[in-house]
Amino acid sequence: MTARVALIGANGHGRWHRRSIGDLLVGLADVQPITPPPDVPAFTDHRALLAETRPDVVVICTPPHTHLPIALDALDAGCDLLLEKPPVTSLAAHHTLADAAARAGRACQVGFQALGSRAWTRFRAALDPSLTALTAVASWKRDDAYYARAPWAGRRTVAGRPVVDGVLVNPLAHAVMQALASGTAAGAGRPRLLEVERYRVRPIEVEDTAFARITFETGLTLLVAVTLAGEDFIAGEIEARGPFGRALLEYPTDRLALPGDPAPVEVPGRTDLLTNLLDHRTTGAPLLVPLESTIDFTTVLEALTLPDTPAPQLIDVPDRTIPGINALLRLSADTLSLPSELGVPWAAKPDRRRLPAG
Ligand SMILES: NC(=O)c1ccc[n+]([C@@H]2O[C@H](COP(=O)([O-])OP(=O)(O)OC[C@H]3O[C@@H](n4cnc5c(N)ncnc54)[C@H](O)[C@@H]3O)[C@@H](O)[C@H]2O)c1
Repeated sequence: MTARVALIGANGHGRWHRRSIGDLLVGLADVQPITPPPDVPAFTDHRALLAETRPDVVVICTPPHTHLPIALDALDAGCDLLLEKPPVTSLAAHHTLADAAARAGRACQVGFQALGSRAWTRFRAALDPSLTALTAVASWKRDDAYYARAPWAGRRTVAGRPVVDGVLVNPLAHAVMQALASGTAAGAGRPRLLEVERYRVRPIEVEDTAFARITFETGLTLLVAVTLAGEDFIAGEIEARGPFGRALLEYPTDRLALPGDPAPVEVPGRTDLLTNLLDHRTTGAPLLVPLESTIDFTTVLEALTLPDTPAPQLIDVPDRTIPGINALLRLSADTLSLPSELGVPWAAKPDRRRLPAG
């Protein structure tokens, strides 16, 4: 049976979903004016879309602070979900959504698409409890237009609701998710301690540069060093170290180097998350990114939104590029150290907090 798929949040990244849904698309909803494909109805209220088009599957690609109510309405309407990342913005919301999906007997896949790659499957297979460290490094550049593109860009809250558009949990969320999933794959248990320094180079409410050290239950350390104010581009590298040597996954490009390999090589092939969800509906194939697999991500996200979490510190640089940042990202990852421990003059005091069991 062919599934009927609807999309809520049709512009922005939703345009990519429109193409991926293709002929299965039965309707679109967006609060802003949109141009739907011929013969596809468009709605300004997602509840009208759900009532009138009766989709089997709904792709939700709206701003993060709107995900939960829309997802609950779609579950009420009997739909399976492909929900964009970050799925929700608090642990309470995670549990509300997970409970609602279980009650409705529906599936919720989360849009961390790099977890559908063959490169990730191979990388994950190389991880085991002998791992001594994990790192995630990325250096991107975002201009002012990026922060002007949407009312929620660069915001910590919108209309009193957390939206949390910081580098760790939105623009470079895939790096954090992939690294946390690596800890899970290595049998390290849940993340238990977060030590984080957050910085910004522009007038935004969240960080565009961050160094986070996360300690898992087994004591395994993950160091995430990421920026949107970078020098040379580093796409996003997850490195696992252990007695076996080093394994490296460049997750945006699916380039992989397993221990002993001379250099990373592209491992082509990704299972698209919507295709996997449709397969799950018909064959019971396991979801690649079920909501429950994102609990560690949401635990870290929530720790960045608490009332006593310090605001990111401004680094005043003229051209929104932090001099020497790429070398610092590398040094931080190599030594598993935060800038304040490396004698960096602009470093802030780290925020240290135990992470809840979930
Ligand atoms: N998986 C990825 O690689 C990836 C990439 C980019 C964005 N995203 C995620 O996709 C989501 C959307 O991001 P974006 O950059 O496209 O945002 P955006 O603001 O550019 O677009 C969101 C769209 O949703 C619409 N919208 C807002 N509230 C709505 C509501 N209540 N009902 C219906 N439509 C509504 C807006 O009008 C807009 O067209 C976010 O969760 C983001 O993190 C994921």
